[in-house]
Amino acid sequence: MNLTERDKKYVWHPFTQHKTAGDQLEIVKASGVTLFDAGGKEYIDANSSWWVNVHGHGHPHIGKAISEQFNTIDHIVFAGATHPKAVEIAERIVEKTPGNLQKVFFSDNGSTAVEVGLKMAFQYFFNSDKPRRKVVALNGSYHGDTFGAMSVGQRGYFNTPFESFFFDVDYLDFPTESNTQTVLNQANELFSTGEVAALIVEPLVQGAAGMRMYSPEVLDQLTEIARKYGSLVIFDEVMTGFGRTGKLFAMDHCKHKPDIVALSKGLTAGVMAMGVTVASQEIYEGFLSDDKGKAFLHGHSFTANPIACAVACANLDLFEDEKTIQNMKELVIWGEAFKEQLSEMKTVRNARQSGTIVAFEVNTGNEDTYFSDVRERAYAYFLEQGVLLRPLGNTIFVNPPYSISKTEYSHVVRTVIDFLESL
Ligand SMILES: Cc1ncc(COP(=O)(O)O)c(C=O)c1O
Repeated sequence: MNLTERDKKYVWHPFTQHKTAGDQLEIVKASGVTLFDAGGKEYIDANSSWWVNVHGHGHPHIGKAISEQFNTIDHIVFAGATHPKAVEIAERIVEKTPGNLQKVFFSDNGSTAVEVGLKMAFQYFFNSDKPRRKVVALNGSYHGDTFGAMSVGQRGYFNTPFESFFFDVDYLDFPTESNTQTVLNQANELFSTGEVAALIVEPLVQGAAGMRMYSPEVLDQLTEIARKYGSLVIFDEVMTGFGRTGKLFAMDHCKHKPDIVALSKGLTAGVMAMGVTVASQEIYEGFLSDDKGKAFLHGHSFTANPIACAVACANLDLFEDEKTIQNMKELVIWGEAFKEQLSEMKTVRNARQSGTIVAFEVNTGNEDTYFSDVRERAYAYFLEQGVLLRPLGNTIFVNPPYSISKTEYSHVVRTVIDFLESL
């Protein structure tokens, strides 16, 4: 049996209707921004392998960190023990995030980082004997696929079978230039009940909803309203973190900072699975008690895995390197030119950019939907041209590793423009 046949026989893929899905792409090697399939064809990883890969594949500095850490400590229990790389990455994250964020809790991915943030928020109020049971989120949000994370996400197609198990969430309209006052009024009404434990948002860019962008000013106003009524504010920076919006974190664009931040994806350069939830000192202190039941009784077997922590440290080394900063600046400039080009095309609607992300809708004449058939055509065309992009319905977006070269980026741009011209 070849790889595809074995895959079909034994593997269940994410987000895949196996009855109708075609063959999976067989990727047998990755280097820099290039993926190689079994037949030797090359693809530019213009989606950063699901938004995780920030410095390219097989980076030697990351490889060295893995190998050194493996030969030092591969894994230890993190309840009752600690290790140097966990402490180092916690210190460095606290240094790079706003001053109020002081304590780092480790988990395994973006969903668990969000799950931990929500549990912290609920238990913070529970511990203070003033329980709050509600959460406010934005329409169109996506925060992951575990139960808490699904609960605060957009209700609908992706989670219908589970909806009856979800906790109470109210949704604000997604803020646009024309509805700001309505959204702020909705927020005032919801938070003023005093029942809301937390506001949770993907700051500035909603990823899975189709790279929908909104302003730091509106987010600041929402944070202010939540705070006024004693609610906590959670930023899910799983996608936006580590440079996607042009700054290290989306919250760096905001005046008001969150009480809890969830990080993953770019945290480990797209190489190891890890998430962290960073909480304010005040929240942490809400768990200190002589009563052991008030502790945060949550953990995972691989909590603070030393190899993942070492990779996260090496990842930050690269972010501190002038070369990465320069690459990111260039990518933002190339993105601006790409956006301008897109804006002039009749087949394009709402070309937009946030830092290193460029996105737009293909004008289909129909409503925007995740199941738009443009998605399949675009995906196949891009692959044929040696570019891996994952359109969300008729929303096409480009978010490559920051190490992509001008020539590689130009090939991606040319491919997208050629596709649009072929319509
Ligand atoms: C904003 C956001 N939060 C959470 C998640 C879930 O992360 P993971 O897939 O690592 O569980 C994602 C994943 O795409 C995301 O974009």
